[in-house]
Amino acid sequence: MKKQAFGKSYAKIILFGEHSVVYNQPAIAIPLYSVDVNVEINKAVSGQTINCRYFDGPVEDMQDNLAGLKKLIYATLKKFSKQSESFEIKISSKLPAERGMGSSAATAVAVTRALFDYFDVHLNRDSLLEIADIEEKVTHGNPSGIDSATVSSDGGIWFIKGHENEQFNLNLPTSSLVIADSGIKGKTSEAVSLVARNLLDEPEKTKPLIKNLGEITNTAKEALTVSEPMLIGKLMDQAQKDLSALGVSNKTLDKMCAIAKTNGALGAKLTGSGLGGCMIALAPSQESAQKIATALRTKGATKTWIQTFKNYEFSMEESNGDAVK
Ligand code: PMV
Repeated sequence: MKKQAFGKSYAKIILFGEHSVVYNQPAIAIPLYSVDVNVEINKAVSGQTINCRYFDGPVEDMQDNLAGLKKLIYATLKKFSKQSESFEIKISSKLPAERGMGSSAATAVAVTRALFDYFDVHLNRDSLLEIADIEEKVTHGNPSGIDSATVSSDGGIWFIKGHENEQFNLNLPTSSLVIADSGIKGKTSEAVSLVARNLLDEPEKTKPLIKNLGEITNTAKEALTVSEPMLIGKLMDQAQKDLSALGVSNKTLDKMCAIAKTNGALGAKLTGSGLGGCMIALAPSQESAQKIATALRTKGATKTWIQTFKNYEFSMEESNGDAVK
């Protein structure tokens, strides 16, 4: 056992396939390296405490949105027969909550990594996702698993519900992704129910949209692998049109996509559930990304991030649940 241990993970962004992924179509998601969660565990003289933005106190008093994390911590301690170990957990997160960035999964992954580091036990990716799922099941009921798979990955994730997720390298050496927060809370369950209702009420309109979104995602994977930014931009615009026709965009997100396009984006779309949350825009260069981000903030985005695609490479070797570069 160590005196001090660490765990890290990232925010997630869905590039393609939100909503259609619910109906067994593929999705592509990436980790956002600049938006991370860091967990530190220090040995203590007595007790088990946790400090994060929502709570500061004993682990046993964690409630509400922290109930899943508490269950994860106790399950891990039990696994190592260390139920009476004394420690302090400190969580520092840059992820905004309820913006579709996978905040709860990122915390679960970083805490799991830190606990395994603390007890000095090797953690493979399958075990990491299984343990993170303990938290996600409590917090989200029936999670698809895309959040945990992405926030723990060093590369892109190709995800089909109920199948093993696959990590793949993105090849876009000169492009940058701009992510902008609309300032409106994402409404995942409302948006998912809306699409389900549309499928029942208007199947002849809704089914082709879901199928189309799946086809866009398939084409996008190829375009991301062989470096075709113009095509990816076009596919993003098509996806935004289909998502809008599904009813999950809103005026703010539509306007933000238009602003990004006017300022040089190759394509723009909402990301995640829609009805709020974030949008993304593909910029041909880093300078262009700065221009788009500034324009979006000037016109009301509450926050923007820029992510280059340069580092989306990984090797399949593993240590502490990480893919090592
Ligand atoms: O905004 P988020 O991260 O909750 O993404 C939701 C993605 C959906 O496809 C709309 C729902 C899902 O479970 O995959």
